[in-house]
Amino acid sequence: MLEVQNITKKYGSQTALKNVSFSIGKGEIAGFLGPNGAGKSTALKLITGSLPMDSGSVVISGYDLRREPLKAKFHTGYLPENNPLYDDMYVTEYLDYVAGLYLLDNRKERVAEIIRQTGLQAEAHKKIEQLSKGYRQRAGLAQALIHNPDVLVLDEPSSGLDPNQSSEINRLLLRLQPEKTILFSSHTLPEVAAVCTRILFIHRGEIVADLPRNEIEDLEVLFKELTAV
Ligand SMILES: Nc1ncnc2c1ncn2[C@@H]1O[C@H](COP(=O)(O)OP(=O)(O)O)[C@@H](O)[C@H]1O
Ligand SMILES: [Mg+2]
Repeated sequence: MLEVQNITKKYGSQTALKNVSFSIGKGEIAGFLGPNGAGKSTALKLITGSLPMDSGSVVISGYDLRREPLKAKFHTGYLPENNPLYDDMYVTEYLDYVAGLYLLDNRKERVAEIIRQTGLQAEAHKKIEQLSKGYRQRAGLAQALIHNPDVLVLDEPSSGLDPNQSSEINRLLLRLQPEKTILFSSHTLPEVAAVCTRILFIHRGEIVADLPRNEIEDLEVLFKELTAV
C-alpha cells in the first residue's frame, strides 16, 4: 500500500511537482503517464526517499517515509530511470551485495530465487556490462525485488527495450501483481495500456486525471486532451 499526500518539489524557482496526491493498493498496477519533463522521475524519487521532498507525506505499508525512513525504504523496491548498476560486478555478485545491504540472512537462497524469478539464470555468471539491454533491465528489477518489498516503483522500466523484451517485463509485473503494489512511469501509451489496472496522468507537475484503465475508452485521445497546452 502506497499513500502519497500533497508532495511538492521545487528545483530553484521551478516547481517540478505540485501537491501530488494518490494512493495505490495491493494488487494494483498503476501507470504514471506523462510527457517528458512532466515530473514523473521527480515524483518517484520523492516516493522512494532518494530525493527529499519540500512538503507533503509518503506512507509505505503504514510507515511514514519521513518518520521511519529505513522501515519505509525496506518495504520499497526501486528501479531508477536509466537503471544504474555496477558494470564491473557479476550479476550474482551484485545481487548478493544488494542482499547484504538489506541485511538479509538467507542471502544465497534469496539471490538464487530472484535470479530464477526474473529469468536471469543463463546470464547470472556474466558481468553486468556484458548483458543485453533486456537482461540489464531484468538485473535492475532483480535488485529492486531482492528484499521482497510490498511496493514496487519503476521509472520507465521498458524504455529502450524492443517490444519482445518489453512484454517480458510486463509478464513479470503481472506475475508479481497479486502480492505487490506497483507504480511504474512511462511516456509511451502502449506500454501503459498493456499492463495497468489504473492510470495516473501527470502534466506539468500535477496529476490531471486518475482513472481505472477499463474506464478509458480511447487512451490516445484522452492523453492528448489532458496534456494539451
Ligand atoms: N536535478 C534537477 N535540477 C533542476 N531541474 C530538474 C532536476 N531534475 C529535473 N528537473 C526538471 O524538473 C522537471 C521534471 O523533470 P522529471 O521529473 O525528470 O520529469 P519526467 O521524468 O516526467 O521526464 C523538468 O523540467 C526537469 O528539467
Ligand atoms: Mg523521467
